[in-house]
Amino acid sequence: MKTLDLVSQANSLSKRLKTETAAQHAALDAAIMAGRPFASLDLYGRFLDVQRAFHRDVDALYGDPELIRLVPGLPALRRLPLIVRDLADLGLPPREEADAPAFAHGETHDLAEALGWLYVAEGSNLGAAFLLKQAAKLGLSESFGARHLAPAADGRGLSWRSFAAALDAAPLDASAARAASGAQAAFARIRSRVAKAF
Ligand code: HEM
Repeated sequence: MKTLDLVSQANSLSKRLKTETAAQHAALDAAIMAGRPFASLDLYGRFLDVQRAFHRDVDALYGDPELIRLVPGLPALRRLPLIVRDLADLGLPPREEADAPAFAHGETHDLAEALGWLYVAEGSNLGAAFLLKQAAKLGLSESFGARHLAPAADGRGLSWRSFAAALDAAPLDASAARAASGAQAAFARIRSRVAKAF
């Protein structure tokens, strides 16, 4: 790899989002694990509810034509239907939501902000390998109760690298700061839901 490529990778949007949300990610991991979501099915159900609310927030983005143009294969990465099936596996009814999702279906979205939220949703699948192993202790698997923690069809690593490459190729320039605030808003929203759930 040429030095110039390495420099541009280090300054890439995906790396910037990782750096600018690292503290939030660490705090969120700690808050979730403090809730002991894999200690019982009841606690896991609360974690699933947090996941459902977050993926409901971003669900509209996976069908947004502008975002699909930037991130080929985006619709196949949608995880809300898997979470709904996980809830059904465990006999948990999907809860009615009081607030509106962060992004509404059929509307045009700020692409930079939306990419920041998608970074959080897609990155979380990278860390989900660890969570899936924990869920197995409760008898859950990628075909029962923990479907949404399964890797994407082409594998976690490859799926993530393709997504990160699409992020890095997005022509954002001056609006990269809005992507960072989108990613930070996504982490903040999940964190507040975790605080209420456990
Ligand atoms: C809904 C909750 C969570 C969200 C939204 C989330 C989000 C993310 C994001 C965005 C990344 C990608 C970072 C990057 O490389 O740019 C990531 C990676 C990772 N997360 Fe999480 N995360 C969550 C929960 C957790 C929990 C509870 C753990 C474990 C205690 C965890 C462990 C990890 C690990 C180990 C990685 C790195 C995986 C790798 O590089 O192979 N995450 N997560």
